[in-house]
Amino acid sequence: MRELKITPIKNGTVIDHIGNGLALEVLRIIGVGSLDKDSTVSVAIHVRSGKLGWKDIVKVENMELSPRKVNAIALLAPTATISIIRDFKVREKRTVDLPDRIVGVLRCPNPNCISNQPEPLESEFEVAERRPIVLKCAFCERRVEDFRRHLA
Ligand SMILES: Nc1ncnc2c1ncn2[C@@H]1O[C@H](COP(=O)(O)OP(=O)(O)OP(=O)(O)O)[C@@H](O)[C@H]1O
Ligand SMILES: [Mg+2]
Ligand SMILES: [Zn+2]
Repeated sequence: MRELKITPIKNGTVIDHIGNGLALEVLRIIGVGSLDKDSTVSVAIHVRSGKLGWKDIVKVENMELSPRKVNAIALLAPTATISIIRDFKVREKRTVDLPDRIVGVLRCPNPNCISNQPEPLESEFEVAERRPIVLKCAFCERRVEDFRRHLA
């Protein structure tokens, strides 16, 4: 491992190749506040990268990401790779894939949508277009392009 900017971790998750400046969005998705108190989170912003020019990196001890969080990272930081570290070694490494549906990560911008009513339903969006990304609410069909503004 040539990268020495962040202390190695024994067990946890490394989210690498995050597009420059997107680490804070990734931290929001992870929900750093909800991690157990023994988990150190290391963040490197604006790191030189062969592939990307510049990138961000997030390393979280003692945590593995739920599939839902991986989907959210795929939406907001599509170049990210996710490595699972066990006993200081990379046990598994994968790139993220934009799924067909995004559940529970974003809020529908339509105030009248059933997903926003007093007894709210979990939000659900279909990925209607991929380039550029357009999402469509599964309940009210509202199209959403500026999804970064609608993180729940
Ligand atoms: N024990 C560890 N603690 C913290 N981070 C680690 C540890 N081992 C590997 N990593 C990080 O996990 C990621 C994947 O590790 P790997 O050794 O596969 O990286 P790499 O050779 O730089 O490959 P690539 O950049 O193509 O994903 C890298 O970001 C690396 O810095
Ligand atoms: Mg590398
Ligand atoms: Zn809606």
